[in-house]
Amino acid sequence: MNSDDHEVRRAIDTRARTVKLMAHKAITLAEKPELKNQSIPDAEIWPEFNLHGATYLLSWSRLPDELPEYQFAMCDAETGEVIADAHTVPCWWDGTPEGLPGGFDAAIADALNRRETGQPVNTLCAIAAEIPKGGRGTGLAAEILKTMGAIASRHGLEHMIAPVRPTWKDRYPITPIERYMTWRRDDGSLFDPWLRLHERMGARMGPAAPASYRIDGTVREWESWLGMALPESGEFVFPGGLSPLAVDRASDRATYVEPNVWMIHSLSSVQNYEIPQ
Ligand SMILES: CC(C)(COP(=O)(O)OP(=O)(O)OC[C@H]1O[C@@H](n2cnc3c(N)ncnc32)[C@H](O)[C@@H]1OP(=O)(O)O)[C@@H](O)C(=O)NCCC(=O)NCCS
Repeated sequence: MNSDDHEVRRAIDTRARTVKLMAHKAITLAEKPELKNQSIPDAEIWPEFNLHGATYLLSWSRLPDELPEYQFAMCDAETGEVIADAHTVPCWWDGTPEGLPGGFDAAIADALNRRETGQPVNTLCAIAAEIPKGGRGTGLAAEILKTMGAIASRHGLEHMIAPVRPTWKDRYPITPIERYMTWRRDDGSLFDPWLRLHERMGARMGPAAPASYRIDGTVREWESWLGMALPESGEFVFPGGLSPLAVDRASDRATYVEPNVWMIHSLSSVQNYEIPQ
């Protein structure tokens, strides 16, 4: 490609990105309950094993009905088609690193418990952004985080926190999360792409959440979720796993504990972030 070609390519890319950015809008399930039936299938977003944790099985499906104003979809402005989903929950945080929830499981449990018992909330916990593979790398992830900030403000919440599932951690499953989260590129930005975006949007890194999301199963269940044999007890790395799976054949149990990293947002920074065109 010569430099003119590069210019043309850049102009096309910029236009495509601008069109994509302008052509959709965020709608909560409270605003449009029928979006619940149009959500992107979880199997398109998550590896199979991720769909078997107790929180996923028992609590995930409660979010659209019990906290609809905190769940939203990014929809194509013309067709209404859902192009991404996002989940948040309102919880309580005392503002200290020690006071952060244990992670994904704990934040959802706290939110549902507070809702049931009418206890106060002061913090929005960003639980998940879900963009199908074809829609990634378009600026949509930043827009989702901006919308989350707007939801926090709309409900008068003081903080926004996120137990972030680092997107490249599965490439380094035996590296402790406490080490991985410190890795930076030569330009000083965070090595992990998803952590990096949070930081670029003004979030500061909190502590690791080494036991954010727990998935237990029998050995046979895990073998079927992973499509691989687990012939003996021990620790196994596996495709898509952010940390090793601990297998105990004697008790017929296998346990995976997913590590995340707390990112603590500034509500004004995240909402005012300008997505590069
Ligand atoms: C996490 C997720 C929402 C991020 O969306 P995204 O569209 O990839 O986000 P971005 O386009 O803003 O990319 C963020 C960074 O990753 C980089 N990136 C994205 N895809 C990449 C790829 N395939 N290879 C290399 N870098 C990539 C981007 O370049 C960007 O970094 P940079 O701007 O510093 O260059 C999306 O990947 C997703 O839905 N993943 C599955 C579900 C999930 O893990 N959700 C998060 C739970 S906390």
